[in-house]
This record gives sequence, C-alpha cells and structure tokens, in this order.
Amino acid sequence: HSQFKGRDFISLHDFTQNELKCFLDVAAELKKEQKAGRPHPILQGKTLGMIFTKSSTRTRVSFEVGIYQLGGQGLFLSGRDIQLGRGETIADTARVLSRMVDGIMIRTFSHQEVLDLAQYATIPIINGLTDMLHPCQVLADLMTIQEHKGRLAGLKLAYIGDGNNMAHSLMFGGAKMGLQVVIASPQGYKPDPALVALAQEDAKANGGSVDILDDPLEAVKGADVLYTDVWASMGQEAEAGERMKAFQGYQINAESLKLAHPSAIVLHCLPAHRGEEITEEVIEGAHSVVFDEAENRLHAQKAIMALVM
Ligand code: CP
Ligand code: NVA
Repeated sequence: HSQFKGRDFISLHDFTQNELKCFLDVAAELKKEQKAGRPHPILQGKTLGMIFTKSSTRTRVSFEVGIYQLGGQGLFLSGRDIQLGRGETIADTARVLSRMVDGIMIRTFSHQEVLDLAQYATIPIINGLTDMLHPCQVLADLMTIQEHKGRLAGLKLAYIGDGNNMAHSLMFGGAKMGLQVVIASPQGYKPDPALVALAQEDAKANGGSVDILDDPLEAVKGADVLYTDVWASMGQEAEAGERMKAFQGYQINAESLKLAHPSAIVLHCLPAHRGEEITEEVIEGAHSVVFDEAENRLHAQKAIMALVM
C-alpha cells in the first residue's frame, strides 16, 4: 500500500479503479477490526488538522473519532476561530500546518482553495467537501453499495436532484468502479459539463457509463441504487425558494421505488429534507440504508487516513 503514502485525497478522479478498490478493502478490514473490538493504532502519535468553514455533523465526528481509533489525534479548526477566517492566506496556513500536523482534512466552499492548500502543503490534504466535490462521502457510499449488493460493476445508480458536489463525486466514483450512473436534474441545475465529460471518459475506460437525463422517472427505471441530496446545499440558502420550485418532481418516493429494481437500496448523504428530495416513507422504509451509509463514513475515512498518512 506504500503507493498511497503522502498523496492527497481530493477527487476520486485522481485514483484508478484498483486504487479505489484498495481503499474499499482497507475500509472493510478496519470495520471488521473495530467491530471485533481489536485495537488498530496504525497512526499512533499522528495528528490530523480538520479545517471547517461550513457546518458538519458526520464529517467532523467520523474524522475525529476515526483518527482517535487509529491511535492519533484530531484538531478541530473552525474557520471562524483560526486566522484563515481573518484573512491569513491558504498558502501560509498550508506551510505552517505542514510543520506541525501529519495531515489536513478541509471542508470549505471553493474547490480551488483545497487545490491551493495541497499545492503549498507538504502533508496529505483530504477533501471533506467543497462546492464541487464530496469524495469521502462517495467512498463510504461505494462501500455501502458493495456491502448490500455484493458487487459494484454493472449496477445501475440513479441520482435524482441537484447536479451538485454529490452528483459530481458519484459520477466520478461510479464511473471508475464500472457502475451505470444516471443523473436526472432540472434544466439549469445539471452537473458541470466539463466534469461529466471527464467522468464519461473514466466510465469508458472502466466498463461503466454516465448519462444525464431530464426525467426523474425515466432515470430510476430498473435502478439498483437510488440516490438523492438536498435541493439547496450549504451556501445556497438564499436560493432555497427558487430551487424549491425548480426541483418539484425531483423526489425519491414510493413511485420511484415502484419503477426501480424490486431490491433497490436508497441512499442519501444526509442531512435530509423529508418531503422535499425524499419522502418520509422512503427514507424510513425497508429499502433505505442511510444509517449504514452514515456509519461507513467512519470506516471509509479511516482507510483514507491509514493509507495516505
Ligand atoms: N454527509 C455529510 O457530509 O454530512 P455532514 O455535513 O454532517 O458532515
Ligand atoms: N450537497 C450538500 C451535501 C451535504 C453533505 C451540501 O453541499 O450542502
């Protein structure tokens, strides 16, 4: 696994199918160890700086608990408290933290900020969500799909809703692992065409496919995995009203389940808005695996930290 040491984890596009399989294998192994109560202090004495300029429940808790379970220590660095929030540059922050900690996880708005951090840091940078991507979430999602379906390649994953960070990372992760990814979004809220083109190239090379549709009912037909996310992401609060109108019909509900494969599973990165992108009935229903998915954030990110740090 030495090929991973020192690498950044910023986009799933940066890894080969075999490398992603490695992350998934290590995640499954670490989950087994943790469930069996066997200590696994792979990162004893190491520290992870965790920069957050956006809210978080799952990402913060899973990274902080994860590094602790690996024998290390996490430092929660709120954008409101560190000097970054008062205008200290990313470049200076990167070089200072590189002298003190062994890895940085960052959740922020601009994806470029994460790329800049990686450019100036001499330690691995882990992307804990930007406006463009959410790769840690999708690694946990792939792990969850693998656990419930016993495979990844050849499965159809339908994502209904905003062409946002989740849609982009699902395209990248799905394409690399040979899934058929179908995304249905309303006009004006489609995934970034440049990223779609990249994902389609990845899909071609790895036996998958990526298709962008308008019709959410067409998209879910025969799907093995149904996925959705909020209509208004963090930072888009002012657009919530306008988005509410644009996204009518882009919901996972009982009708979607009727059209999907009979044993389809339903995923949502959470937090969810019941009655908007997903119904109460479906998120609480028998097909939903959203809490397995949330738990897998812990195991997937322990694998990322163990491998790159
Ligand atoms: N899914 C996810 O990243 O959740 P948080 O915003 O709570 O971290
Ligand atoms: N698209 C959502 C995902 C939250 C985990 C957001 O960026 O707010």
